[in-house]
Amino acid sequence: MKILVTSALPYANGDIHLGHLAGCYLPADIYVRYQKAKQRDIIFICGTDEHGVPITIAADLLKKSPQEIVDKYYKSIKDSFTQFGIEFDNFSRTSLTLHHNTAQSFFLKIFKKGYIYPKSIKQFYCSNCKMFLADRYVEGICPHCHKAGARGDQCEVCGRWLEASLLIEPKCKICGSIPESRETTHWFFALSRFQKNLETWIAEKSNWRDNVKRFCEGWFSQGLEDRAITRDLTWGVKVPLKEAQTKVMYVWFDAPIGYISSTIEWAARIGKPESWKDYWLDHKTRMIHFIGKDNIVFHAIVWPAMLMAHGDYLLPSEIPANEFLNLEGRKLSTSENWAVWLPEYLKEFEPDPLRYALATNLPENRDIDFTWYDFWSRNNNELADVLGNFVNRVAQFIKNNYKGRIPKTTDYRNEDNEVLTTIEKTTQSLGELIEKFQIKDGLRLAMTLPALGNRYFDYQTPWKAIKENPKNCERTINVCAKLISSLEILLQPYIPFTTNKIRAMLGLDKRTWDEAKNPVLPDELKKIEVLFPKIDKSKIDAQVAKLGRKQEKETEKKMEITIDDFKKIELKVAKIIAAEKVAGTDKLVKMNIDLGTEKRQIVAGIGMVYPPETLVGKTIILVANLAPAKIRGVESHGMLLATVEGDNISLVTLDKELSPGSQVS
Ligand code: MF3
Ligand code: ZN
Repeated sequence: MKILVTSALPYANGDIHLGHLAGCYLPADIYVRYQKAKQRDIIFICGTDEHGVPITIAADLLKKSPQEIVDKYYKSIKDSFTQFGIEFDNFSRTSLTLHHNTAQSFFLKIFKKGYIYPKSIKQFYCSNCKMFLADRYVEGICPHCHKAGARGDQCEVCGRWLEASLLIEPKCKICGSIPESRETTHWFFALSRFQKNLETWIAEKSNWRDNVKRFCEGWFSQGLEDRAITRDLTWGVKVPLKEAQTKVMYVWFDAPIGYISSTIEWAARIGKPESWKDYWLDHKTRMIHFIGKDNIVFHAIVWPAMLMAHGDYLLPSEIPANEFLNLEGRKLSTSENWAVWLPEYLKEFEPDPLRYALATNLPENRDIDFTWYDFWSRNNNELADVLGNFVNRVAQFIKNNYKGRIPKTTDYRNEDNEVLTTIEKTTQSLGELIEKFQIKDGLRLAMTLPALGNRYFDYQTPWKAIKENPKNCERTINVCAKLISSLEILLQPYIPFTTNKIRAMLGLDKRTWDEAKNPVLPDELKKIEVLFPKIDKSKIDAQVAKLGRKQEKETEKKMEITIDDFKKIELKVAKIIAAEKVAGTDKLVKMNIDLGTEKRQIVAGIGMVYPPETLVGKTIILVANLAPAKIRGVESHGMLLATVEGDNISLVTLDKELSPGSQVS
């Protein structure tokens, strides 16, 4: 039986954080490593999701092109996964021509079968930015839960997938103005026609997690509606129809097809270009999508419907969706930097303590709170004091008393056999747990072995037995060494960097899972190293203190300029004489200002914080020699200085009253 495992393709608009890892990358990696040790035919497929508004908004924000953004994050995401030991068989990217071609032929096939049709609809259009406001480009109040900040595609608060036209008090994400409604044609995917088939299909999935099934049933009871799968954007996969030349595919249409293109890329890379079909065209392959709960609708409803419409490929057989990981009692928020970023983590710590702390507390059935203190105590009290201590005391004992040679014995006593039987049983049960995606329980079970080892060692007192009953001592140490040899295999999915060290100590080759049941022993130990140094509390405190602090933004890492460069900017004191809103906008204020020698008109986006009447009489600092520009058709000659952090805007003012026209330098 073949297994195809995927983890949700991360958007290439930022780095990976702990929420991503706990959601779908670490559990998938553990699962795949286990299945590989079981010698199953399995591949692990992923890549970056490089289209859609998340990317273009990030690019706008950082004043870079979308291509620059995805190039940068593709690399850093891929590198940090590698460093963290997430071992994909292929890590692709959706901006590749290969993917564009795959997505286009997928589209065409279901178009020709009549499942995609055009329809003219009304959509928000920002006349200031001169564009249709696709997905996240428009924000407003959620029509379902009535919370502010809902985006055109999805409400973050209630998690609903939205139809942008239903947003209350819509605003353009870029300029804040109120969009108008305009007619445009989009192509729709006939999702409604798949409701029956989907319902039957999901009803049969008796082993699926409750969260996924309940979520789908909720959707079915509301009735599935056809969805627009094209967008008026330039960044994305071009729609392969003559009548739709200006459209690209909705990112959630092309992204899951990335699972296919990444497999095609993998097949080519291993020199068997046709072998991707062994997985995708064989309906007995088990396809397993590891995702976070915010992706359920797309993986359990829309994507299977796309696959049904297409007809050639297999359907997912499992969708283990994890709940969310909170951080220090608060919801993760990337905008507030309430997050732990993987590259930052890796600068300070080894990968395994985090793999361990996350895996031992995965949000499999409910949201879980990650705290640095928990991470710290798990490293020091469990990894170092239980596992590390067990391995170390046994290894030291062998080195000091047997010159590094592992005692051989076969005539075990009852108490020895008990430990050996436990190893065998644990190997079996641990495998069963991982196969059921109970990865957290699996690790907890595995960790009972070193705890047992420590108890057994203490109880057998080999340091006494070596003198009083050397035979017993040999038995004890032999059994302890077997336990270590077995743990090398059993913990490999969870903490592979550590088990590599154990394997080097044992000087053994990689073994299969079932070899853990009755593990072999080498004649002697090779080098012994401390597996888990304790982490100092101060390092943990520093991490906690960092949370929520704004990182230096890309745009702020400005190049250095010379004093002559600076002198090119003419800064002057000015006084606001009159102010009014620019018609049709909330944000823009038109001001008349006095510069001493002249009067001018400027426009600034400060209306949400400063009502025009409060501005009159204020003294401001103006970039006076900025070339005049038109903002929303209104002339603006100069730019006032203000600090802007999201909606938090403050004018830069003076410490003392100065007369208009004074030079600032
Ligand atoms: N990029 C999406 C996210 O981060 C996930 C895409 S999964 C795929 O939420 F199936 F579409 F690839
Ligand atoms: Zn706009």
